[in-house]
Amino acid sequence: MDEHLGILKTGKESDVHLIARHGASGTTLLAEKRFRPRDRRGFTNDWTYTGVWGEGTRREFRAMRRKTRFGRQAIHAVWVAHEWEELVRLHAAGATVPEPVEPVDDGYRMAFIGEGIRAAPRLVDVDLDRATAERVWNVLLGEVAVFLAAERVHGDLSAYNVLWWRERPVIIDLSQTVDVVTHPAALDLLRRDVISLAAYFRRRGVDADVDRALRDLGADDVRFARQWRR
Ligand SMILES: Nc1ncnc2c1ncn2[C@@H]1O[C@H](COP(=O)(O)OP(=O)(O)OP(=O)(O)O)[C@@H](O)[C@H]1O
Ligand SMILES: [Mg+2]
Repeated sequence: MDEHLGILKTGKESDVHLIARHGASGTTLLAEKRFRPRDRRGFTNDWTYTGVWGEGTRREFRAMRRKTRFGRQAIHAVWVAHEWEELVRLHAAGATVPEPVEPVDDGYRMAFIGEGIRAAPRLVDVDLDRATAERVWNVLLGEVAVFLAAERVHGDLSAYNVLWWRERPVIIDLSQTVDVVTHPAALDLLRRDVISLAAYFRRRGVDADVDRALRDLGADDVRFARQWRR
């Protein structure tokens, strides 16, 4: 039996609910991310992402481009499925993301990251000492490498989309995640992700060098092209 315990957070694009699942072997807490209805969300972004996922029928594709009502529903469906699929893929690839549980109408369920019913804070809200920050910067670059090995770029990575849990970073919010091979802006998004992270860690005293990090990730233009754009 599932019990709705309340809303964890309302966001621009989605609400996140806390669910208690009571089973024979005890109770587990789940987080359910539910996307806002179409007309309440910004639109420009959608096309960038749905346009290149290239899924769906030609009718859907045309309708999405024209943004008819049918098109908006199709975009919504692709958007909702997209984040769930990315979570499954990246969890399987070994990325430190919440364990995927199940898709639901308008969203999906995943493991709740927290202590008891207290949600883990976002990285942006915690004060790491310099040594810890140094460690976490390197851990997160390792996570970016795991994403790349799974042919993905997070696309919206920053201290706002990382939770701080049991002294470790857990990456959330895969709504803007893109395919490294097919997305034309993948390299730019990767750079932007690393720049956002570096800015946070430099404020905490880490010598977070963006160029070096990108080089280590194999993400300078030439190597990026050779590795993913054959
Ligand atoms: N698995 C989880 N466990 C605990 N808290 C979570 C979990 N997933 C999301 N949250 C909380 O919900 C917030 C919003 O989640 P997320 O970043 O995925 O959605 P969003 O639509 O980008 O929201 P926003 O518009 O605020 O950026 C997170 O910052 C976090 O506080
Ligand atoms: Mg977010």
